[in-house]
Amino acid sequence: MKRILHIDSSPRHDRSHTKNLTRQLRDRLLKKYPEHELMYRDLYVGIPPHVDASWIEAAFSKDEKLSPRQKQAVEISDHLIDEFLSADIYLLGIPMYNFGMPSVFKAYIDNIIRVNRTFSFDPSDQNEPYKPLAVGNKTMYVIVATGDDGFQKGEELFELNHLEPHLQTVFEFIGIDDIKFIYCGNDEYGGEKLEQSIKQALGEIEDLIEVH
Ligand SMILES: Cc1cc2nc3c(=O)[nH]c(=O)nc-3n(C[C@H](O)[C@H](O)[C@H](O)COP(=O)(O)O)c2cc1C
Repeated sequence: MKRILHIDSSPRHDRSHTKNLTRQLRDRLLKKYPEHELMYRDLYVGIPPHVDASWIEAAFSKDEKLSPRQKQAVEISDHLIDEFLSADIYLLGIPMYNFGMPSVFKAYIDNIIRVNRTFSFDPSDQNEPYKPLAVGNKTMYVIVATGDDGFQKGEELFELNHLEPHLQTVFEFIGIDDIKFIYCGNDEYGGEKLEQSIKQALGEIEDLIEVH
């Protein structure tokens, strides 16, 4: 059975554009693939902990068996990674905060990009010391909401967009190459500009997930 992992990372509720749009995309995915299992995570319900010294010690331990204390240090990370690796389709809702991702999403990333779990490292391999481990036929949809507009590739503010290149780098690093970004801008302007952005994002969702 295939699995969809849907993750939201806005603290807002009904007013969140990322949440409203991931919901629309999720509904289309479930219509198209009714047999797929859905997993949902709201990163503000149980914010992933920051990586700390004991996490680092456990994650980089060379021992085959971790001590009970080390196991506990990476327990949440293990759980998030198991969930991540079990999915075939990812659906992420990520607001742009200060030209990058919100800290809850960065905390999530720091927990799931982990040596020997989602990538491997072999310093003796001259050609390819790092190898991705989250491989498979995986597709990722990312809904990004912004207050301003013009952050997409080819637009005037793309050079200020540190969210898309960062996500692309980390997820490609672990093996996910098929990443589709959908933007909804103009939250700060509101009115017709915002309505137009939402309409455009919905149109892109319809084009991406064709349902007959
Ligand atoms: C802390 C914070 C930082 C933000 N930084 C930016 C930014 O750098 N650029 C931008 O265009 N909008 C920025 N915004 C606006 C949000 O991206 C926008 O409100 C978006 O719609 C939030 O996503 P949501 O609707 O899913 O909550 C920021 C908002 C907050 C709360």
